[in-house]
Amino acid sequence: MDRYALLIRPSANRVYSGTAVALTQAELEIFSRSVLGGRIRDIGGEVIGGVPYVTFAGDLDEARDAAFLAHLSAIYALFQVRDGLLRPFDIPSPDRLDDDLVTIQKYQGKTNEQFTRLLLNVTLLSSAFAPGLADRKFAVLDPLCGRGTTLNQALRLGFDAAGVEHDRKDFEAYATFIRTWLKRKRIKHHADYDGPVRRDGQVIGRRLQLRLAADPADYKAGRTQLLDVVSADTTRAPEFFRRATFDLVVTDAPYGIQHGSTTGAGAGQRRLARSPLDLLADAVPGWAGLLRDGGALGIAWNTLVAPRAEAARILAGAGLEVLDDGPYRAFEHRVDQAIRRDILIARRP
Ligand SMILES: C[S@@+](CC[C@H](N)C(=O)[O-])C[C@H]1O[C@@H](n2cnc3c(N)ncnc32)[C@H](O)[C@@H]1O
Repeated sequence: MDRYALLIRPSANRVYSGTAVALTQAELEIFSRSVLGGRIRDIGGEVIGGVPYVTFAGDLDEARDAAFLAHLSAIYALFQVRDGLLRPFDIPSPDRLDDDLVTIQKYQGKTNEQFTRLLLNVTLLSSAFAPGLADRKFAVLDPLCGRGTTLNQALRLGFDAAGVEHDRKDFEAYATFIRTWLKRKRIKHHADYDGPVRRDGQVIGRRLQLRLAADPADYKAGRTQLLDVVSADTTRAPEFFRRATFDLVVTDAPYGIQHGSTTGAGAGQRRLARSPLDLLADAVPGWAGLLRDGGALGIAWNTLVAPRAEAARILAGAGLEVLDDGPYRAFEHRVDQAIRRDILIARRP
């Protein structure tokens, strides 16, 4: 069995302040279980030449398995360790769009882009569609999408991305940003729709639907990605999307600090809650209905304002199967004094 050493992006150490190795180890274990037939063993850590690495044993196929491991959210380089020497392992980047798509926008309440990729990966790997990670297009919904970090990460991977965000300023800022970015990068795209959405004569939200393709030949052949963003309350998400539309629902819930969660579809019922649990209780059944059978939902939230067991109860109550063993319990980490972030993953049977 060969030994490997994985070098973590320097930025991950800044994002996770000391927990980057542990988070990468948990993510790696989920990759192993889900798409590598459990062939990765003895996941650990080692300092080599003064630099910390995540180490593991396994028999990897350089062409096939590297295409999966290249998706790891914090991977910088991968080496095979032989006789104390590091042989670089070729890891082809899965990204079709430049990384400034997720780094340019800076605003209060932004979810870190690297953490967003981790959440997207772990959710995808927990779905029944995981084996298609390296070669199929997934449909992803972020029902609390802010200014689009999840949407942008999904687009970079060549996926379809949909979002719901009730804050009009965030919606407009994202719509302007993405159009400007696509234009500046000369990426072929067109808007299918950009304007108000009406039901029974009333405006219930605004919507932007764009089609794009990183490769002009794909665009010409109609092999496009769909970006579909709605400005509305997330509890109304099922009014905008058909049942069983998405492979994945991936979201970062309001932290109860910068963002309040507002619940209730009517303006009169709106209230600001410190804990996102009320919002999740109202919205998760609708989100679950938008998932295909075998699809998965991944949520990040602040455990200081909502205990894990209660969030898990809400997911289970919506008919989802919560994944709660081994590596799924290893993602909790400190963000700052007011936020301890954790993730919960659940599958639609
Ligand atoms: C933690 S932020 C997500 C940030 C996002 N991932 C990003 O990087 O831009 C949570 C978002 O949920 C939105 N939100 C809160 N309650 C909502 C509701 N009832 N319907 C829709 N969006 C809501 C907030 O406006 C906020 O943008």
